[in-house]
Amino acid sequence: MGKNIFWCEGKVKREDRERLLGQKGVVIWFTGLSGSGKSTLAYAVEEKLHKMGYLTYVLDGDNIRHGLNSDLGFSPEDREENIRRVGEVAKLFADAGVIVMTAFISPYRKDRRRARRLMDEGRFVEVYCKCNVEVCEKRDPKGLYKKAKAGEIDAFTGVSAPYEEPEKPEIVVETDKQSVEECVEKIIKYLKTNKLL
Ligand code: ADX
Repeated sequence: MGKNIFWCEGKVKREDRERLLGQKGVVIWFTGLSGSGKSTLAYAVEEKLHKMGYLTYVLDGDNIRHGLNSDLGFSPEDREENIRRVGEVAKLFADAGVIVMTAFISPYRKDRRRARRLMDEGRFVEVYCKCNVEVCEKRDPKGLYKKAKAGEIDAFTGVSAPYEEPEKPEIVVETDKQSVEECVEKIIKYLKTNKLL
């Protein structure tokens, strides 16, 4: 942290914003292989919550890499920095009282742990989008597995770069076995049971 920089607080606190909005700021962190359904589920959960009257926002890997993180590639260092920034942005959104969903491969446990540590206990919900890599490959919505297999993309997660499975995620959805609706229901149920809605 830089010298001569001081933390500064306003009078309006997170609790005040949450009271105004009638909800709790929380981070729902989707992780999994490319093509495992992270974005699909994040947007589906968002739609459902929006209809229920909650203020939400989705931070999506491909979109964030067009703007805020357009300077980053896919080396381990760049992925770490990608996730570090997203963790910080997600924290800010949650501090604003928003229910924020992040959809990034986030392949490294230590990077996800770091994002989790930024949040108060119970306000970080890790959702593992578990999906067999063969199924992801078959889906291949962006044609990237094909390119990776042909050697046209370096260090592609699940092909030539690692993915570290979560050890204790709050929620596991098996997107190669369950429908989008079933996965969404599971997530909403968790949020209700844990008094996050
Ligand atoms: S992360 O590893 O840093 O968390 P992120 O979720 O932001 O990745 O971006 C992943 C998306 O970038 C993939 O869904 C895919 O569309 C694209 N992509 C391009 N190159 C790669 C690569 N080498 N590995 C994984 N995804 C890649």
